[in-house]
Amino acid sequence: MKMTVKALFAGLAIATATLATAPAFAQAAPAPATAPVAGPFSLAPLPYAYDALAPVIDEATMKLHHDKHHQAYVDALNKAVTADPALQGQTLEQLVAKAGTLPTVVRNNAGGHWNHTFYWKTMTAPAKSGAPSGALAAAIEASFGSLDKFKAAFKEAGTKQFGSGWVWLIVGADGKLAITSTPNQDNPLMDVAAVKGLPVLGNDVWEHAYYLTYNNRRGDYLEAWWKVVDWAEVSRRFAAARR
Ligand SMILES: [Fe+2]
Repeated sequence: MKMTVKALFAGLAIATATLATAPAFAQAAPAPATAPVAGPFSLAPLPYAYDALAPVIDEATMKLHHDKHHQAYVDALNKAVTADPALQGQTLEQLVAKAGTLPTVVRNNAGGHWNHTFYWKTMTAPAKSGAPSGALAAAIEASFGSLDKFKAAFKEAGTKQFGSGWVWLIVGADGKLAITSTPNQDNPLMDVAAVKGLPVLGNDVWEHAYYLTYNNRRGDYLEAWWKVVDWAEVSRRFAAARR
């Protein structure tokens, strides 16, 4: 079939418009479920409004991230656990701890559910973010030299995490703070983690967490993210991890 130049440009315009409304991360997103898949696990509402973290994280990102991406992890986990009697009767933490012995679908979706639940609670509105204090502030200074040096090292680890994954602040077996990163939906609680520990802070560096506002600028997202960290919650986790 012979195509005229005019028709060719019309086709390109349609293709360009389609691309403009469908960023790469959206194309890779799990298909939204029409209703939650029944099972032992469920998605809790966000602990704040969808727009509470704006302008650091925009409302549309929060809706997609929580209602579609996180829901998809919960749905896939419920589906896998319901289909396999050997997986039933176990808590999310128990599944995460032995993720390396479980089917990949369970490792990925149990991790996705745990990580996102933790992530939502790590954040708060910018006006409520606060700053590290007390024992946490002292431990950050002891391990990293200063809060600014810690933030720079955390950003570097998040930026260098190849592809999708997470960057963490953990309390290691020695009781000290350390920064680590994990691929996909793995986390430092998993038996397969290269560096293990108890997470006290974690940031999602999947593109779906930041693409609408920051596009490909992951470093800008990591930098801005400090404005929505709930330092009171991080302090509580640090105290619990040291007990
Ligand atoms: Fe995510």
